[in-house]
Amino acid sequence: MKLTREQQDMLDGKYGRGTAYAMKIETAIGESFDAPYMVPITRAHVALSNQDADLWFAEKLLSLGAHCRVSPTVNPGFCVSFFREHGMVSEEDAKMMMRTHNAYKGLGATLTYNCTPYVGTNVPHFGEICAFSESSATPFVNSVWGARSNREGANSALCAAITGFVPYYGLLLDENRKGNILVHVEADMKSDFEYHLLGYCGKKIGPGIPVFEGLPEQISMESLTNLGAQLNTSGAYGMYHILGFTPEAQTLEQAFSGKKPEREVVITNQDLTDILEEISCEGNRKIDFAMFGCPHFTLDQTRHIAERLDGKKLKVPLWVLTSYHVKELCDRMGITEKIEYAGGNVIPDTCPDQPCWNWLGGKTGVTESPKCAYYPKRRGINFVIRNLDSCIDAALTGEVR
Ligand code: F3S
Repeated sequence: MKLTREQQDMLDGKYGRGTAYAMKIETAIGESFDAPYMVPITRAHVALSNQDADLWFAEKLLSLGAHCRVSPTVNPGFCVSFFREHGMVSEEDAKMMMRTHNAYKGLGATLTYNCTPYVGTNVPHFGEICAFSESSATPFVNSVWGARSNREGANSALCAAITGFVPYYGLLLDENRKGNILVHVEADMKSDFEYHLLGYCGKKIGPGIPVFEGLPEQISMESLTNLGAQLNTSGAYGMYHILGFTPEAQTLEQAFSGKKPEREVVITNQDLTDILEEISCEGNRKIDFAMFGCPHFTLDQTRHIAERLDGKKLKVPLWVLTSYHVKELCDRMGITEKIEYAGGNVIPDTCPDQPCWNWLGGKTGVTESPKCAYYPKRRGINFVIRNLDSCIDAALTGEVR
């Protein structure tokens, strides 16, 4: 791979050992994908996980003196103050989160702890070259905004943020952004929930870049967030197109670059029902808690819960996970107050796949997100999956109908 003088100097250590380490990784990625050269990025998002390997890598870079040239936004871990205050987290786990915080702070990251930066704090424009990790983020920036990012890992996105460059390959090139699977959606897409289920049809859709046709003319931001998140829970998708809706698929000709689709797939109501039956834990009708916000809930979603709960009392705890800025708006607007009056909480900076939830092991919750049900399984936490209103009703009665 051809490097500029500046990039070669980075690799040779003239910008410090940390930058050299990050550049070594970036050049190795470029060489393995036969990238001809590197290109500058203007944005990055790092899907930090607050787990051993992630922390080891971040602390190693920090100890070598690395600092981000392009300050990346970061994924949620958990809100230490909330979980400490509620006695829900061990000191050991809280310390790990603080170490993660200090490592990324030292590296110069933008400490957003939010997995939907693409609708709030880190929004690229059309054609902008970025390095985004996080399953719902990469397809959103590529597909909806028409920006360009490969499906980065947390580590490669961090190296890109440190060097300011990514190898020029994959989804950065026009020819790799064309659809190859035509997905006819015959299912009724009534609410944001059906987009969760459509995204979870990755097995049927198969690998490649799907082009969805047959979707409603109006699609909410939340539906698009759900679609990307679940596509990357059931499969691995850097981008998708929606015919006549997303910017690089205004026509079939544009979406497929004039070629015939390699495959055509039909998704029906029955497919969505089958997926729900496969992934929802139906063994237990009594539920112990309700959890929402995977991906992080927007202000509208959180407000909807507050309005539905208004003046009522929950039978089981209900947690809404969101960004710090949505939480702040909820506080100002009385949304948090309504949810807390009912017995629930709005929690910023937090993901369901974190050790702060270990104490829920063996319990069954309800959620509208298959991704929320998927990851916590390894902590022994089970979920019944329903649409949002049915979940709220279940939290009010303690039982799924
Ligand atoms: Fe976000 Fe964690 Fe879910 S990063 S999408 S809340 S698994």
